[in-house]
Amino acid sequence: MKVIKTIGALRAAVAAHRRRGHAVGFVPTMGYFHQGHVSLMKASVKAHDTTVVSLFVNPTQFGPAEDLARYPRDLKRDTAQARAAGVDILFVPTVEEMYPCPAAVSIEVGSMGDILCGAARPGHFRGVATVVAKLLNIVQPDAMYLGQKDAQQAEVLKRVVMALDFPVRIKVCPTCREQDGLAMSSRNLYLSPAERAKAPAIYLALCQGAKRIADGERDASKINSLIKKLICDGTGASIDYVSCVGLDGFRIVRRIEGDTLMAVAARIGSTRLIDNIVVKVR
Ligand code: PAF
Repeated sequence: MKVIKTIGALRAAVAAHRRRGHAVGFVPTMGYFHQGHVSLMKASVKAHDTTVVSLFVNPTQFGPAEDLARYPRDLKRDTAQARAAGVDILFVPTVEEMYPCPAAVSIEVGSMGDILCGAARPGHFRGVATVVAKLLNIVQPDAMYLGQKDAQQAEVLKRVVMALDFPVRIKVCPTCREQDGLAMSSRNLYLSPAERAKAPAIYLALCQGAKRIADGERDASKINSLIKKLICDGTGASIDYVSCVGLDGFRIVRRIEGDTLMAVAARIGSTRLIDNIVVKVR
């Protein structure tokens, strides 16, 4: 596996694989790999001759009061994990390489960027859309692999790809969970042992919400209240949002019909965690 730091060297390396007729899969990441990242890498490795993984903690998607400075980093461990997963190229640009001058151009994602995580993190999806558009232009992959845990991010990026005619397929892979149900995330590292013990409440509450829908409840506000109560009781978590989102159009809904995403963002201590599950209502 090659570790490459510059855009020029990355383009040359990908071009060499292309000359051999290789199909290229791409996994954008911010590093500190867990099994969720590894599952995306393995999915790409299985389906493509060449897999490129980017590791870049993108400053433009963090708000001024967010965790950019303390975001976990461990290049040595990440390099070993990517190599073991069969990745061909690990692209690790510096901030100066990606943003040589203050970004005067960015991608606006419209109202999609203002709901759910976008409401709590103004400008976040602009930063994500802009850096991923840059990475897609640099790598020019056939397919890009994203995780279902970041469902809104995947939806935003699908729209960016469609609106700007990027010739890339997007594959969304299932959320990887710890044995007790907690969705894997690099930010789980921030949890103290006591907070970690409480964190599975988020997934368990989502499962109870799904069960209530399966039993016939269609009023989203009742499902949201149930999920909020289950998360807050006993964990002391503060809820950022609990919403039901119709997957046809990705809009927050009052009545549950068709495929619906139940999405949560909650703070356990000072750590903001997100999770979601999809229910299919016929
Ligand atoms: O999901 C992430 O890790 C980031 O938002 C991404 C897609 C790599 C863009 O910086």
